[in-house]
Amino acid sequence: MDYSKMRDNEILKRQYKDTSKLDIHKTFHEKYSTNKQGFTEWMFEKYMFFNGCRILELGSGKGDLWDGRIEYIGKNSSLVLSDFSDGMITYMQDRYFNQKRVEIMKIDAQNIPFLEETFDIVIANSMLYHVPDLKKAISEIWRVLKKNGVFYAATFGENGFSKYINSTLREMELTTNDIGNISFTLQNGKKTLSTFFPTVKRIDYEDSFEVSNTEDLVDYIYSMASMANLDISHRPNMIAFYDKHRNAESIIKIKKEYGIFIAKKL
Ligand SMILES: C[S@@+](CC[C@H](N)C(=O)[O-])C[C@H]1O[C@@H](n2cnc3c(N)ncnc32)[C@H](O)[C@@H]1O
Repeated sequence: MDYSKMRDNEILKRQYKDTSKLDIHKTFHEKYSTNKQGFTEWMFEKYMFFNGCRILELGSGKGDLWDGRIEYIGKNSSLVLSDFSDGMITYMQDRYFNQKRVEIMKIDAQNIPFLEETFDIVIANSMLYHVPDLKKAISEIWRVLKKNGVFYAATFGENGFSKYINSTLREMELTTNDIGNISFTLQNGKKTLSTFFPTVKRIDYEDSFEVSNTEDLVDYIYSMASMANLDISHRPNMIAFYDKHRNAESIIKIKKEYGIFIAKKL
């Protein structure tokens, strides 16, 4: 596959055609993160559900956020889990088929098929940086939120893992067609959200990686959407390169920068 000839949207569709890439990410984070609470659990603590609330999640992926947690949304609450990928929709339909309060829908965040002021809460985690027309997506989120509704958006920072990977790849003289996924980061997200939402709060999650298996790190890099055009022939050189980055305990330490924005509609 010649990824250099693929358009960003085609790369994304390929990246998320099934759950395989997300599985690699989840395993890597669980295995090598130093903060054992986990980002998902930490985020979930931030959500202010109430009995009877209507919740929409965009770009839900496998729906991991709700694994063992649906009961916390409130007895009369309802939840729409959505994604633009058929593969993710099929997976979630299978996973949550017996949950009465949950509906699974194929939705592109740029065009949300609900009337204005439908939801109390909208959630979009680790997905807005993939959306080609970010302003359109945020205006759609704002439109479907009720007055006093809350939008929760998790994303990564520019000074964490991605910075480490990009700088080490440059050292190896490897280039990627980074598909513009710094469009919504912890650094620039507040400015974009503030064009719609009067109050936007950023909260950071403290964490880092301590990687003990270099092959796992290289597999993770190959599984990233932004690395879709990285030729597999570089794998042995990359493993040798990262092996040199190990400390005395044979660990590669990498800073993580993740967090969440909480935006309120008045
Ligand atoms: C990195 S995954 C995050 C999945 C999940 N939110 C999580 O935090 O584990 C990004 C997800 O966003 C979806 N996605 C990308 N662009 C989208 C769009 N324009 N509308 C809806 N979903 C989209 C992908 O299919 C993928 O499932």
